[in-house]
Amino acid sequence: MTSLPPLHPVLIGRVALRNNLALAPMAGITNAAFRVLAAEGGAGLVVTEMVSAESLKYGNKKSFKMLELLPGEHPAAIQLFGADPASMALAAQAAERAGADIVDINAGCPVKKVLRSGAGAELMKKPQLLGEIISRMVKSVKVPVTVKFRVGLAAGENLGPLLARVAEEAGAAAITLHGRPAAQFHTGPVDLEAMAATAAAVKIPVFGNGGVENAAQAAVMLAAGCAGLAIGRAAVYNPAVFSEISAGLSGAGAGSVTDAARIRLFLRFLELNAGIYGEEQGLARARKLVGYWLKGLPNAAAARGAFMSLKTLKEAEGLLIQYTR
Ligand SMILES: Cc1cc2nc3c(=O)[nH]c(=O)nc-3n(C[C@H](O)[C@H](O)[C@H](O)COP(=O)(O)O)c2cc1C
Repeated sequence: MTSLPPLHPVLIGRVALRNNLALAPMAGITNAAFRVLAAEGGAGLVVTEMVSAESLKYGNKKSFKMLELLPGEHPAAIQLFGADPASMALAAQAAERAGADIVDINAGCPVKKVLRSGAGAELMKKPQLLGEIISRMVKSVKVPVTVKFRVGLAAGENLGPLLARVAEEAGAAAITLHGRPAAQFHTGPVDLEAMAATAAAVKIPVFGNGGVENAAQAAVMLAAGCAGLAIGRAAVYNPAVFSEISAGLSGAGAGSVTDAARIRLFLRFLELNAGIYGEEQGLARARKLVGYWLKGLPNAAAARGAFMSLKTLKEAEGLLIQYTR
């Protein structure tokens, strides 16, 4: 591995992160319970699932619930998506009132429903509108505003430097750059050259994102000039991945967390989830995640099946205790 300085504190506007490893926003995954685990697992910043600015404007209860933060997760960014500068500014104020340390803009989502509304990666086609959204939001809140986009829309395209300059000029405090083009969704290689050119184009921190699972991969992206990293799927079944990477980068050895410790984390996730949604609802919401957590463990399919009908935390503990020893 290249010898690089270990993860270090980083400033996003006036917000000091204890390290430069962030949890990437993931719809259906990075709820408050999961974000607490990631923060405890060493993430210097956590980010909510994307929340619709239009839904907030119309008082949608579910969307407001998604703005709720827990004490153990700060510093936390709330990510918003939308295409209307006025709605995005209002949503930023709602996020700030909810206690967000940072407000993040989703300008990279390739999902059809989001694109059809003109939001997400659609904003990459309209740098002027993106700039307007950022500057309206920056003027509307005291907390830093950041933006997440991709290197391009199609393979081989590098819109990074242009969009990064637009973001910086409009007042964004940092950028998260997903190194895959929108057409590639979440698979395939990242374009490190495009990422390096983007990081070099601006003074604000650029957090690299895409496919980082271990310290060696983290070192490569940091060597490309990224000020920090955002980690998505590698954290989904192992929120302690941040500490593992941090230890690996500082040369302390990348001792990976044991399966028993991971499943204890999952039980803690279920407890936190119950605190947010109630016991039965919290367990129901965890059903789509349990497969990730149990992957590769003995009798995982049977345990996963049994999990689907659980109603209480006690039952969950009874089922999963076999994996925690
Ligand atoms: C299930 C899932 C949901 C996602 N939801 C969001 C989202 O709400 N906002 C966003 O900006 N990116 C979202 N992403 C993209 C991730 O933030 C990240 O850019 C992507 O997974 C690449 O990073 P990784 O290779 O470390 O997972 C999502 C990705 C996945 C897999």
